[in-house]
Parts: sequence; C-alpha cells; structure tokens
Amino acid sequence: MRITWLGHAAFHIQAAGRDILVDPFWTGNPRFPQGYEDGLAKVDTIVLTHGHEDHLGDTVRLAKKYGATVVAQYEICMFVGGQGVERLEPMNTGGCIRRDGVRYCMVPAFHSSAVIRDGTPVTMGDPAGFVIEAEGTAVYHAGDTCVFSDMALIQRIHRPKVGLIPVGDRFTMGPETAALACNEFLDLEIVVPIHWGTFDLLHGDPHEFARLVRRGRVVILEPGQSLEV
Ligand code: NI
Ligand code: MN
Repeated sequence: MRITWLGHAAFHIQAAGRDILVDPFWTGNPRFPQGYEDGLAKVDTIVLTHGHEDHLGDTVRLAKKYGATVVAQYEICMFVGGQGVERLEPMNTGGCIRRDGVRYCMVPAFHSSAVIRDGTPVTMGDPAGFVIEAEGTAVYHAGDTCVFSDMALIQRIHRPKVGLIPVGDRFTMGPETAALACNEFLDLEIVVPIHWGTFDLLHGDPHEFARLVRRGRVVILEPGQSLEV
C-alpha cells in the first residue's frame, strides 16, 4: 500500500491495483502539491469523511472526470448524486463494504457535517472516519474528530496499522489530545499527523504531537510525499 499526503486531510492511496482518493480538497488548498493531478491516470474511488468544503473539495469534478465511485455517508452520496455523480456507494456508521479487493468501513467521528447553501446549512448526515483495508494492511483515516475512548473499539475491530490523525486543533484534536488517542486508545505502528498547517486557524503543531506520542512511530509527511506500508 502506498499512501500519499496531498495536504490537509487529502490522500491518494494505492492498493490492490486501485487508486483511491480521500477527502480531495485540492482547489483552494494552499498545501496541495501543484501539478499532482497531471500525473494521475485514473481514480477508482473517492472516500469522503464528511461534507465540509475542506473535505468534499473537488469530489464532483474528479468523480465525473475519472468515472470514480464516491464512498460516503448516505446524505453526501445523495447530494453529489444530485450534482451528476453517477457511481455511488452510500454507507452509514458501523458499516463495511468490499469492492475490487478493498474493504471500506465507516467508523464514528465527533464533528459536524453540513454544507452552507444560500446562508443555510444543508445536513450531510453524521461525520465519519474510515478504515480502508487491502492486502492485509488497514489504514485508519480519523476524519475530523475529537478524541473518544471508543477509538479502542475501532482498533480492536479493524486492527489498523497506520493512522491518519488530525492534530491542527480548533476544529479537531490538537497535539495533546491526538497523542492521548494514540497512547491510550489506538495501537498504531505508524501515525501521520494531518489537518495541520493548511491555514493560520490550525495552530496545532505536528512536532509537539510527535514529542508526545509514545505508542507508534510518528511520520510527518510533506505534501506530495508518500509512505509505503
Ligand atoms: Ni470538518
Ligand atoms: Mn476539516
């Protein structure tokens, strides 16, 4: 499995011959590696943790361009379906699906999930994290969330080896609570801090996070950099 960080919560995961995008916030993401799309020949699946614009991002455009299937909360699927995305895999919390040798499990996250249209929030259902497993390796993308003790249940059920964990604070965990999640509730071999440094609003420092984590190896990626696991 090859995991490439594209800034913020956005990833390109390559496994079992499939190209999977998570939370493709590309346009307007100041840390998106420019030109990355030029080298992207195909996209099979787009996974969305929730409906906020910094996660939904370029989903509709990319799903149409590549004929990709959107895997997301039911309400998000109906929303992007209404914008012309044809291939949808609606899910809800606690469910798993398998397609093309990859297993997608939707797990809880504590956050909100709406898009604002004409000044009014339109609900996108409950926010989520995902565990994506292929060829015996599972990766946990926590989405946007606070720490919660049932992360231990996610670890017990899905046995993720890699965690993509938000540390930017304000809208998600900060370094201290994200380290608590790793030290007390998860049991990850490799931890990648995400959702930091995109905007000044996100003041959480991934190096402080790395200093506090005692369980698992923290790998601070640069946008465009990959991890092979
Ligand atoms: Ni959010
Ligand atoms: Mn976010």
